[in-house]
Amino acid sequence: MTDTHDSLIAAARGCCRQAHSPYSGIRVGAAIRATSGAVYLGTNVENASYPLGNCAETSAIAAGVQSEGAGFRIAEIAVWATDPDGRTLACSPCGGCRQRIREFATSGAVPIHFPWQADKIRTVTIDELLPFAFSLPNSQPQS
Ligand code: THU
Repeated sequence: MTDTHDSLIAAARGCCRQAHSPYSGIRVGAAIRATSGAVYLGTNVENASYPLGNCAETSAIAAGVQSEGAGFRIAEIAVWATDPDGRTLACSPCGGCRQRIREFATSGAVPIHFPWQADKIRTVTIDELLPFAFSLPNSQPQS
C-alpha cells in the first residue's frame, strides 16, 4: 500500500469520529481524493426519520461538488467504519453509494479501499463493485 492510500484511509478513519449516527451507532467516514488533488471528507448523517439519513460517501461527494462544481471527479476513495462499541467494521459502499461513486469516477478503474474481515483493507475498483453500471444514453460506453 502506498503513502497515498495510507493517508486517505487515515483521513476516512479520523472523519468517522464525526458521524451523527445516534440510531445505528455505526460511524462511517469517507475520504475522496479528487483529480484536482484535493481530499474531501464525509460522514454518515442519520435522521429520526430513518430513510432521510445520508451515507458517508454521499456526504463526501456533496463536499466535492460544493467545492469544485460540475468538474469534480473522483480519483480514489477510502471508507472506514466502526460498530457501536468502537470496533472496526467491515464496510464496503452500499449499492446506492456505488452508483453515486460511479457517476463521478474518472473511469471504472477508480480504486476503493475499505476494511474487510479482521481489519484487513480490501482494495477493489468501482467496476468490480458495480459491474454493468447504469448510465444515461449520452454518457454510455462506445463500442
Ligand atoms: N452507511 C454509510 O455511511 N455508508 C455505506 O456505504 C453503508 C452504510 C451508514 C448509513 C447508516 O447511517 C449506517 O451506516 C448504518 O446503516
